[in-house]
Amino acid sequence: MSITKKVLALGAVGLMAAGLAACSSDAEGATEGGDVECNVGISMPTRSLERWINDGEQLEALLKDEGCTVDLQYADNKTSEQISQIQNQIAGGAKILVVAPIDGEVLSPVLSEAKKTQDAVVISYDRLINGTEDIDYYATFDNAKVGKMQGEFIVDQLGLDDGEGPFNLEPFAGSPDDNNAKFFFSGAWDVLLPYVENGQLVVPSGKSPKSNDEWASIGIQGWASDKAQAEMDNRLTSFYSGDEKVDVVLSPNDSLAIGIEASLKSAGYAPGEDYPLITGQDADKANVKAILDGEQAMTVLKDTRKLGEAVFEMIKQIVAGDEVETNVTYDNTKFDVPTAQLDPVVVTKDNVQEEIIDSGFIDASELGL
Ligand code: GAL
Repeated sequence: MSITKKVLALGAVGLMAAGLAACSSDAEGATEGGDVECNVGISMPTRSLERWINDGEQLEALLKDEGCTVDLQYADNKTSEQISQIQNQIAGGAKILVVAPIDGEVLSPVLSEAKKTQDAVVISYDRLINGTEDIDYYATFDNAKVGKMQGEFIVDQLGLDDGEGPFNLEPFAGSPDDNNAKFFFSGAWDVLLPYVENGQLVVPSGKSPKSNDEWASIGIQGWASDKAQAEMDNRLTSFYSGDEKVDVVLSPNDSLAIGIEASLKSAGYAPGEDYPLITGQDADKANVKAILDGEQAMTVLKDTRKLGEAVFEMIKQIVAGDEVETNVTYDNTKFDVPTAQLDPVVVTKDNVQEEIIDSGFIDASELGL
């Protein structure tokens, strides 16, 4: 799966002509002059993971403010439910579909239906939809960079470059059906595997993929906190007796981290001297609190407001008949999908104020501050 950089300043996303109704677009299915109606179906994976609520509601608000018709749906992490929700959106006249897939491999049939019946323009949101030509654009963050940031944070904090170690590492990966999860893992493992191979990092549970291709072997289905907690419980009871301690946990996101932290807490770990270094992603409220309380070392902020704005710009350009601005492409096994890719940001207790509170991502009162 390859990513190609196209030098187009995403920041300079062209502003669309005023008024969404009178439109033109050069997206597939829109005749010159771009009479694509701003009737948008938004399909999000679940409400059980905090970020998707923000993603859906923020984009819905932007579009409604512009006078678009919007149908926002959440699919409770069930692919059959997501497929039937998209079918309803197609039947309801959606001309533009924004889809964050639960499973990026199973949407081809419903998307070809969307093309046949509505000539719909399809934007893959945050996660790439694979194996179909019936998508037009993708918008996401640099997901390999998220993993690289987590890996480099661990190297830096443990002093691995100065030869420190050995340290006990427990790596986790994301949901096996999520195309992003392999990017998070390979981004981190490309940084960490050399230290596993030279013995500075040891994985007592043996859950240590020999290569990036084996990432799904340590994947947690559905990004479920309770499954991550159970997995950590199992590793602690099976591989950590006596004085053996976990020193560092590679957690690909915050929902897994919160489960892992609960498991460590019930095993008697407490913030301070012997508490492990734990990574994360998404800057969920509970995890930002955990960072302030010393129970998590970092998270990676992917500002959902910026992703919403990037997709909103794409939709405005589609409706206006303008060229849709992108800056890279992602190969979805059928073609190189034009993509708007944004940059993630590392957040630790040292920059929570600036990146999370001052930016307005989370209100201080919601963090008990
Ligand atoms: C990924 C997404 C992450 C995280 C995870 C669980 O696809 O990029 O930000 O939220 O899903 O929802």
